[in-house]
Amino acid sequence: MNVATDYRAFFQIFRDIIRTMHSHDHLDEVLDLVVQKASEVLHAKGALLRLLNPETDQFEVAAAHGIGENYLKKGPVSKKKILFEPGCQSRVHEITDIWSAPRVEYPQQAWDEGVRMMLDVPLSIRAKMIGLIRIYLPEKREHSDDQLDFLLTVAEQCACIIERVRLYENQRTHYFHMAAQLEKMSSLGRMAAGIAHEINNPLTGIMLFSTSMIKKTTKGDPFEEGLQIIIDETTRCKNIVEGLLEFSRNPSPEKKIHDLNDIVTKAIKLVENETQLRYIKINHAMSEDLNPLLLDSNQLEQVFVNLLYNAIQAIGEKGEITVKTGETPLHQAFVAVSDTGNGISKDLMETIFDPFFTTKQDGTGLGLAICHNIVHNHGGDIQVTSKIGKGTTFVVTLPYN
Ligand SMILES: Nc1ncnc2c1ncn2[C@@H]1O[C@H](COP(=O)(O)OP(=O)(O)OP(=O)(O)O)[C@@H](O)[C@H]1O
Ligand SMILES: [Mg+2]
Repeated sequence: MNVATDYRAFFQIFRDIIRTMHSHDHLDEVLDLVVQKASEVLHAKGALLRLLNPETDQFEVAAAHGIGENYLKKGPVSKKKILFEPGCQSRVHEITDIWSAPRVEYPQQAWDEGVRMMLDVPLSIRAKMIGLIRIYLPEKREHSDDQLDFLLTVAEQCACIIERVRLYENQRTHYFHMAAQLEKMSSLGRMAAGIAHEINNPLTGIMLFSTSMIKKTTKGDPFEEGLQIIIDETTRCKNIVEGLLEFSRNPSPEKKIHDLNDIVTKAIKLVENETQLRYIKINHAMSEDLNPLLLDSNQLEQVFVNLLYNAIQAIGEKGEITVKTGETPLHQAFVAVSDTGNGISKDLMETIFDPFFTTKQDGTGLGLAICHNIVHNHGGDIQVTSKIGKGTTFVVTLPYN
């Protein structure tokens, strides 16, 4: 093989890959291009790119070129099969005998496809393998160290771009979700304000008359129980309406310089009675190094009280809440409220910030919607992670400005 010509072809393809990778923002398109070019550069039968799914610990097919459907139909490859040798994430693995290589999961199907040799090129970031490009060759060949190095260089670039595109896609999803949320909130807010005002007056009337009527009943009066139900249910309606008004008012924050730890401590004090009654321990993990922040202390206190109440309700009885403050790597202040409660299922994660979404019998479902509004009015963000049966963490980040 003429090494000089080879290099020129390699560099041409390398340039193509890099240029196209930088002009594409969808991961699928980038990966399709990588397998196509990797296959072309080695005059291979085809190539397959698998990405590691951290949840299943399996390498799943993300892009394929030149490989028959039959072979593709084979399932994912387990992480154990690929990552069993030390250093395998930093060098190209040549498989010359596909029948006896432990990392070849489907040798018969590969043979039937006309494959006689394979090259496994790791996709690694910071010494961690995130995927693998497997190149299928129609005959056994020898590769020079330079050729293998070259493949590794392409793979390194590819891994970096995969990470960049993933980050970008995550941010974009997060942004669209936020935009949709804000839109939903503002239209709901307008509607809610109108309805709440209309309902508030008749409710006050019902409350007034039913309370004065119950006072006039004597013990054992057949109306007593019914009146009490009217009072209880009207109180519930009034709470919902008040929450609605609060939500729709969405007042702009009156910001002053505050110590975030003070606000968090005050919020904890407000729920302490409840936590003691329910045998819930509150762990304080406040950072001493937080700079003062410009914020509306009443509004932020309301956020933390809401989060703490949700945590208490998720635990029910006996458990722990940990409140942590600190600074993110992007120099924002954060407050994390973690609980050992029942957790939130994956399919509900998107919905919990929606106004009126509740899983509680007497909840209004406005707590988190209000938190979301307040935090966003401060230019901050609120994120949640949760594990069913283990607990939930809400993280509020606030910028210093
Ligand atoms: N820490 C948590 N652990 C588990 N689930 C939670 C937690 N926080 C919120 N949730 C879920 O999100 C839903 C919405 O919460 P949100 O605070 O908006 O309303 P709510 O608590 O149901 O009602 P309200 O706040 O009006 O009492 C809850 O009903 C619950 O299902
Ligand atoms: Mg709540």
